[in-house]
Amino acid sequence: MDKLIIEGGKRLKGSVKISGSKNAVLPILAATLLTDKPCRISNVPDLKDVHFMLRLLRILGVSAEFKRGVVKICAKDIKSHIAPYNLVSKMRASFCLLGPLLGRIKKAQVSLPGGCIIGVRPVNLHIEGLRRLNVNIEISAGYVNAQTKSLRGNSVYLGGEFGSSVLATANVLMAAVKAKGLTVIESAACEPEILDLADFLNSMGAHIHGAGTPTIRIQGVKSLCGVDYKVIPDRVEAGTFMIAALITKGDIVIEGVNHYHLSALIDKLGKTGSRIKKLDNSLHIAAVNKLKPVNITTLPYPGFPTDMQAQFMSLLSVVDGVSVVTEKIYPDRFMHIAELNRMGAHIQKEGPCAIIEGVKFLTGAPVMASDLRASAALVLAGLAAKGTTEIFRIYHLDRGYDRIESKLQKLGACIYRRKVR
Ligand code: EPU
Repeated sequence: MDKLIIEGGKRLKGSVKISGSKNAVLPILAATLLTDKPCRISNVPDLKDVHFMLRLLRILGVSAEFKRGVVKICAKDIKSHIAPYNLVSKMRASFCLLGPLLGRIKKAQVSLPGGCIIGVRPVNLHIEGLRRLNVNIEISAGYVNAQTKSLRGNSVYLGGEFGSSVLATANVLMAAVKAKGLTVIESAACEPEILDLADFLNSMGAHIHGAGTPTIRIQGVKSLCGVDYKVIPDRVEAGTFMIAALITKGDIVIEGVNHYHLSALIDKLGKTGSRIKKLDNSLHIAAVNKLKPVNITTLPYPGFPTDMQAQFMSLLSVVDGVSVVTEKIYPDRFMHIAELNRMGAHIQKEGPCAIIEGVKFLTGAPVMASDLRASAALVLAGLAAKGTTEIFRIYHLDRGYDRIESKLQKLGACIYRRKVR
């Protein structure tokens, strides 16, 4: 196991190129099951989760090669319809193999992923949604056993207690493209990753309209073809580097971004008094003398993303005044609070809210990463802190950030990896 060591207090300067989006590429890789023709996918980030999804697809019979940001993949013959527990439990996104397996071979046996450190994470919307498409689903021994004689288009409502679901929308969308007739998804997730999946499927020959809005209309087709497709940039990685610039009082150009995907974050950072300049496909962000406290509430897109909540909290922990962060997607996604407090932050949890009293500085300390975005928050805190921070359990970070240390080192950070003895 590795740990990260950060000598804090260096101002980050220069430019950084953002990699392809993790949460866009994972369902896109699953969607390649829908055709027996080869696909080429570019701008693929080199992440543990991507390698993991490729491993699962190979178990199903897919041939795949991943080199220098490009995946060449072909699901000519599907040999298995089973996604086993030991793999699905490690990466929740593998649950989105359900839709494309049903679309391609009309049956799927996918382990229930279970909860994780950020919450209970039910899958009721996936199951209810697929049942509306004439899929027979039974749950037994921790597995979802799904089969259909023929997928049939229908109206599907995907609104849940906490809004819509990104991966449930992806699952229903991927099954609906091969269903007979029209499917209308209401209360669909509007995240850019869903629009990217729909663009990918449309380039394969699907007929999808309205992706990126709460109503998606899908006219089923008989077959899909192979394609060459480029994945969108990772908005959460971009957001994490924006905070890195501010928290280290630095000056960074973030290249290869789509500003529209970052509107909520740019708006909130603007309210702290940050100066952000939008250039063509890049953002220039430079620190100002004193930032103001703000309140944030996480919401489904285009609201403030839950995947940026922890990183934003690191920044607010050193902004003079009181800020309140309310988590509306995963009310328990607050494991980073205790670790930030170990570094000298003053944060108190009150139900789904965190009350942050800004301190003058953080102090380096040994801390434990609990999930992907909490790990990123600790890296940011370590970059700003006085002294040395050691972050343990960083395998979480490797799941979702492509070469984060080398990108930070190029910006002037003192960050390195060591084996834990
Ligand atoms: N929900 C239900 N029922 C369901 C599914 C979800 O009630 O059947 C609830 C969830 O418990 C949560 C809310 O709906 O309260 C939204 O969850 P969603 O299903 O949208 O999350 P997801 O699709 O499993 C994706 C991202 C997450 C990101 C969320 C929210 C991927 C692979 N994962 O998860 O990303 O936080 O959407 O935007 O796309 C991350 O990258 O660190 C990460 C956790």
